[in-house]
Amino acid sequence: QHGHGQDHSGRDAGPERDKPVGGTTHAGLQAWVDEVAALTTPDEVVWVTGSQQEWTRLTDKLVAAGTFTRLDPEKKPNSFHAASDPTDVARVEDRTYICSVDERDAGPTNNWMAPEEMKEIMRGLYAGCMTGRTMYVVPFVMGHLNAEHPMFGVEITDSEYVVVSMRVMARTGVSVLRRIEELDADYVPALHSLGAPLQPGQADVPWPCNETKYIVQFPEQRMIWSYGSGYGGNALLGKKCYALRIASVMARDEGWLAEHMLILKLTSPEQQTYYVAAAFPSACGKTNLAMLAPTIPGWTVETLGDDIAWMRFGEDGRLYAVNPEFGFFGVAPGTNEHTNPNAMRTINLGNSVFTNVALTDDGDVWWEGLENTPAHATSWKGEDWTPDSGELSAHANSRYCTPIEQCPILADEYHDPQGVPISAIFFGGRRRDTVPLVTESRDWVHGTFMGATLSSETTAAATGQVGVVRRDPMAMLPFIGYDAADYFQHWIDLGKDADATKLPRIFYVNWFRRDDDGDFLWPGFGENARVLKWAIERMEGKAAAVETPIGHVPTPEALDTTGLEMTPEQVEAALAVDPEEWKQEIPQIEEWFARFEGNLPTQLQVELDGLKARLGLL
Ligand code: GDP
Ligand code: PGA
Ligand code: MN
Ligand code: MN
Repeated sequence: QHGHGQDHSGRDAGPERDKPVGGTTHAGLQAWVDEVAALTTPDEVVWVTGSQQEWTRLTDKLVAAGTFTRLDPEKKPNSFHAASDPTDVARVEDRTYICSVDERDAGPTNNWMAPEEMKEIMRGLYAGCMTGRTMYVVPFVMGHLNAEHPMFGVEITDSEYVVVSMRVMARTGVSVLRRIEELDADYVPALHSLGAPLQPGQADVPWPCNETKYIVQFPEQRMIWSYGSGYGGNALLGKKCYALRIASVMARDEGWLAEHMLILKLTSPEQQTYYVAAAFPSACGKTNLAMLAPTIPGWTVETLGDDIAWMRFGEDGRLYAVNPEFGFFGVAPGTNEHTNPNAMRTINLGNSVFTNVALTDDGDVWWEGLENTPAHATSWKGEDWTPDSGELSAHANSRYCTPIEQCPILADEYHDPQGVPISAIFFGGRRRDTVPLVTESRDWVHGTFMGATLSSETTAAATGQVGVVRRDPMAMLPFIGYDAADYFQHWIDLGKDADATKLPRIFYVNWFRRDDDGDFLWPGFGENARVLKWAIERMEGKAAAVETPIGHVPTPEALDTTGLEMTPEQVEAALAVDPEEWKQEIPQIEEWFARFEGNLPTQLQVELDGLKARLGLL
């Protein structure tokens, strides 16, 4: 089927995979599972096999419990709607902790508590917390099972919703467990509980969770404890907790990068291929760019990943990226046949879980921005909804969870554990002003400065106020598992040790700039291919740019605007670098850097001084 050193751990290896697993020969793992069961007192312990039959049993159970509604199989086969508790809809950054031994190692951007203090609190919460429920043991691997160093984890959870979602998002089950046993491998223990025990006779609710929530990483121990939430980013522990927070610490120690980045393959009309990684904060366009359908003739995009990239230098000196995930956990609102036709084709194949979208009367899902607005639907809150309701039918952070192999433009290289050599890295955020459509950095350190000072308006992907501009370095603010200043230094060090001619070129983009009426200046989505094209042509030495105080910005002629319904004034406004706006940005950057006190890499201070000088502020 696929070339390359491919991974044969498919989503289902046939009926023999459904044989019950009673336990493990891996002594350490068995001891941990026994210890957790003794603490949390579930009715039953089930080792997850990852089989198709198991999926059917669990989704049937979720339907019976009222958590899932089965969608019309004609429309979305083997797919389900779920509505969460209205208080459990997003990542909870204020409840997320990096419990390093030393407080300094968590840095000024993370919540911290001493590991022993946190464990004491959480052991209290975990005591008896699975009473009346089943405890599932989910062996998983982030990245490929046949990678040189497979990155194992085992999630213990009392949520069937988590088990089925994990099967979509990661390679799970008995083939992974057998490999852990064969290698007597290390794994990241990841403990999750909804915090909703059931006493005898107590009726369950469709979305059990607890008002008290903790999302905790112990970086030195490479361990995760999560409590109280069933929401994806808080509960599917392979994703944010492992593949970003814990992996970023591993990456610091071992000389690689764990980043909040999509990976795409771009092919030019001349059949040249380029691999691009891009970091945008949550709900700022990664999934859409990863699945882009280019509007400019001759260019094609294929997808490798939409949220996480693990990158390390290859023997040839180039930076190689792999996507450690096995599915997409995408923002539903705004997704439609125009903005993201490839996501629509992916979810229409079925085998998906939709959370906090609206349910239509004919057994399909709907959300704001999707075509064919229904005359009536059931909102994510379970209420009657009509187009005149004056309320959102779907939560702004409602999600689809869907298998990656269903993506019609999945690149073959996805199956290669070696990953792909990255030519360009894009940083981007959601800014209504100041930040132009695209800026090219001068070099790696300047690009690191762009990433370190990246700013974006907050979104519904995390609880809290939406639309507030904050610094979100490399789009990793909620995901850096250690001191952000050390993380900046790590970026700089990797660049210093590398062959500069082989380093990816770094760009900074903003699809979200607005005009005076508050409308987006740039049409975005498939049109973003025009920005990719300019970036490639810059690297090939073919495209013109103007040098501005913040970096190189396209001349209006260098950006391919053929067929675009934009006036020259609008194009200029999208590309404009207004020194007055940037002067207002400087105090915010200074305030941000001041948080790191003496730990900020001097190179970043030098970059800031250079920017100030070019703006005439020094
Ligand atoms: P992710 O969370 O970073 O993966 O972001 P998504 O790709 O899911 O997009 C989040 C939201 O931003 C969705 O509502 C999209 O429709 C919207 N969006 C994505 N790309 C663009 C774009 O290029 N322009 C505009 N205006 N909106 C976009
Ligand atoms: P996103 O993923 O980046 O696609 O929004 C979820 C998250 O970051 O919470
Ligand atoms: Mn994300
Ligand atoms: Mn996404």
